[in-house]
Amino acid sequence: MAQYELPQNFFFGAAMSGPQTEGGWNTGGKLENLWDTWSNEDISSFYNRVGSYVGNDFMHHYKEDLALLKDLGLDSYRTSIQWSRLIDQDGNINPEGAAWYHELFRASREAGLEVFVNLYHFDMPTYLFRRGGWQNREVCEAYANYAAKAFEEFGQEIRYWFTFNEPIVEPEQRYWHGVWYPRHHNFQEACEVQYNISIAHALAVSRYRELYRAGKIREDARIGMICNFSPSYTKDDPSEADLEALRMNDGLTNRWWLDLVTRGKLPADVIKTLVDDLGIVLPQRPYDEAVLAGGVVDWIGCNYYQPSRVQAPSKTHDEWGNPLFAEPYIWPERVMNESRGWEIYPKGIYDFGMKCKNEYPELEWFVSENGIGIEREYLNKDPETQQVMDDYRIDFVRDHLTWVARAIADGARCVGYHYWGLIDNWSWANAFKNRYGFVEVDLMENYERRPKKSATWLKQVAETHVVA
Ligand code: FCB
Repeated sequence: MAQYELPQNFFFGAAMSGPQTEGGWNTGGKLENLWDTWSNEDISSFYNRVGSYVGNDFMHHYKEDLALLKDLGLDSYRTSIQWSRLIDQDGNINPEGAAWYHELFRASREAGLEVFVNLYHFDMPTYLFRRGGWQNREVCEAYANYAAKAFEEFGQEIRYWFTFNEPIVEPEQRYWHGVWYPRHHNFQEACEVQYNISIAHALAVSRYRELYRAGKIREDARIGMICNFSPSYTKDDPSEADLEALRMNDGLTNRWWLDLVTRGKLPADVIKTLVDDLGIVLPQRPYDEAVLAGGVVDWIGCNYYQPSRVQAPSKTHDEWGNPLFAEPYIWPERVMNESRGWEIYPKGIYDFGMKCKNEYPELEWFVSENGIGIEREYLNKDPETQQVMDDYRIDFVRDHLTWVARAIADGARCVGYHYWGLIDNWSWANAFKNRYGFVEVDLMENYERRPKKSATWLKQVAETHVVA
C-alpha cells in the first residue's frame, strides 16, 4: 500500500461542540436554547427519545476526555461556547458560565492541547428565537455583542476563533426543508436567515478586529468561519439545465460563504436570481455593503462528509411552493454509508483543495470536520474484549487523509485535520443513533469511555504523520 506523508507542522485534532457534549442544560445559569426547547416540547422527535439534556456528559468527564485526546497523539481540538451559557438575558456575562469555560481552557492548556473556539453551533437561545431569531436584525446585534463579550473574556487565552459552524444548516434545516424545529418550509424565511447570519458574522468579525487593535486579544490570534463545503457535482455530460442547477446549488451553499469570508461580498449572480427572478425580499439595510465588507477572515475550516451531486429538477417548485433549484443526482459509482445515507467520496476533499487553490489562492484552510457515523455499532464488538472493531473507520479516515496529502502535494494550503467526534456524542435529532467516535461512550454504564480498535491506528498516524 502506498504511504502518504503529511507535513510535520500539520496539526491533528478533533472537533466537538458545546450543545452536543456538555450536558448540564439547565445548570450554572444556562438558559434554554432551541434544542432544549424542542426536547421539552416534543421529545418524540429525537431518536430513542434522547433529548439535549446530557450531551455526552462532558462537563463531568472533561479531564478524562482531554487526557484521552492527548494520549491519542492529538495536539488540538475545537469546541463551541454556548451562547445560552455564557450570556444572560440582558446581554451580560453569566459568571458561572464564564467560570466553566475558563476552567475548560485552563485544563486544556495543562493537558497541552490548543483549543479552537467556535461561537455558534446551531444553538440559538430560545428567548432570542421568540423575538424572531435570525429573522430579526436585533438578534444579529445581540450575537455581535455576545461575540465581543467572549473575545474580551477569553481574548488572552484563546488563539483560534470561529464565528459560525456550518451557517447554511439553520436556514436549510429549520426554515426551508422543515427538518429541525420550528420545521418551516418557507424559502423566503430561509433567505432572510441566511442573509442575517452573514450580517451577524461580519459584525462579529468587525468587533474582533476592533478589540484586536485595542490589544484585548492576543497577538497571534486568528479568526475564521467553519463551513460544510460539499463540493457540488453534476453529470459527466450535463445539459444547460444541469449546469444551472449546479450554479445555484454551489452558489447558495458554497460560494455564498467563500465570497463573504474572502471578499466581504455575497455572490452577485445568486443574489440576482433570488431577488430578480424569484422575488425574494432580503432584509437589506442601507450601508450593508460596508457591514459585509467587514466579514473577511484570516482562514477557514472545511467540514467534509459527502459530495453534493445534483441535476436539473423535474419541476420548478416543491409541494410547499418553494423554488426547486436542483434534484439529487445518483452517481452510478457511488459508495454509501448506509447508516447516515451519505455518500463516501474521499476525493471530494482534494477537489475542494483545488477549488481553493484556483479560485481563492490566498486562502489558508484546514479540515475542520470529517468522520463516519455508524448505526448499531455495538454489533461490531469483539465478543471477548468487548471492543468495537471499526475497521471501516480506519479505511474512511485513511482514504480522506490520503487525498488531503495529495492536495497538499499539488499546492493546496491545507494546514491541519480535525476528526469529528473523537468521542461518541449526541447528534441533534439523531441523538446517539450514529456513532462517530474513535472512543465509544457507553450509555448503559454512566457514559463510560472506551477506545475502539481505530484509536490505536489514529494514534500512530497523529504521532508520525504517515498515513498508512
Ligand atoms: C455536522 C455538524 C456536527 C455533527 C456532524 C456529524 O454537520 O457540524 O455538529 O453533528 O455533522
